[in-house]
Amino acid sequence: MFKTDLFKGKRFLVTGGGSGLGKVMMDKFVELGADCVICGRRGGVLEETAKATMAKYPSRRVDTFTVDIRVATAVEEMIEQIFATGPLDGLVNNAAGNFISQTKDLSPRAFDAIANIVFHGTFYTTNACGKRWIASGRKASVLSILTTWVWTGSPFVVPSAMSKAGIAVMTQSLAVEWARHGIRLNAIAPGPFPTEGAWARLNPLGGTGENDRYRSRNPMGRVGRNSELANMAAFLMSDEVEYINGEVMAIDGGMGIMGNGTFSDMLKHTEQDWQRIRETISATNAADKAKRT
Ligand code: HXC
Repeated sequence: MFKTDLFKGKRFLVTGGGSGLGKVMMDKFVELGADCVICGRRGGVLEETAKATMAKYPSRRVDTFTVDIRVATAVEEMIEQIFATGPLDGLVNNAAGNFISQTKDLSPRAFDAIANIVFHGTFYTTNACGKRWIASGRKASVLSILTTWVWTGSPFVVPSAMSKAGIAVMTQSLAVEWARHGIRLNAIAPGPFPTEGAWARLNPLGGTGENDRYRSRNPMGRVGRNSELANMAAFLMSDEVEYINGEVMAIDGGMGIMGNGTFSDMLKHTEQDWQRIRETISATNAADKAKRT
């Protein structure tokens, strides 16, 4: 799908790049020729991931930084150190926190635990990179990983939905403010891509058959494949599509718009149901016609 040297000479930072979707995207960027920096809270996990990717692509570098992006000073220090070893050409805001809960049960600390990562941390990282790119006149690309809830909201994940909606607006706002500096910002709104971290918190009781909402309520009847998300991220980070700026694009098999269709539940109908529907409507039409004649 891509040229193998698509990202030759590029260096990207992927937050939360030690595991889950961050790791998958980082690995794809490296496969396509980039050097990467990954950051996260667990140093051991980062080290292991970096080592595994560099073993696959020995000519590439993956550096690691242990950081909690909720701490603004720590983010600033990390970005300073990264740029001291060489500039970045892109940032992927992937680090997130979330858990499913009734909103009435959330303490202020619970709200902050999510909002401080997603809303505050993403801004700290983006601005720390942005001001350096602007000062040095360097072109760059920012990609944030959101969800389709940024358009619809979602019950039971309110701190995440609110925070990610804020980052969608940040994406649009800075896409305009920073375009003249050659910095573009886009976002991906993924549907269900099962990863260990997210699934333990969003699907804690599991679920099969009708209760597997990620399959039964998806028009494609399946969850996303990690490679599909990685390909989309590579596409959006590529200079070949530089004119895409300020977009939030879904990759969810159509799940986000399915609930909005008045008749979406009729996907469950059998051919017999449809035959019955047709006969009933035909009978109504025939009766109406008879009344008119
Ligand atoms: C209610 C809860 C809770 C729960 C925690 N809290 N879990 N309240 N229900 N299930 C409350 C705690 O009681 C505490 O408040 C406060 O939240 C902070 O809890 P800590 O455990 O101290 O938080 P912390 O160690 O900072 O952990 C952060 C975290 C954790 C976000 C809560 O889950 C985490 O580190 N997650 C990172 C990985 C992750 O979540 N990945 C999923 C991303 S999925 P009190 O008041 O009691 O002190 C995503 C979108 C996916 O972003 C889209 C799929 C379609």
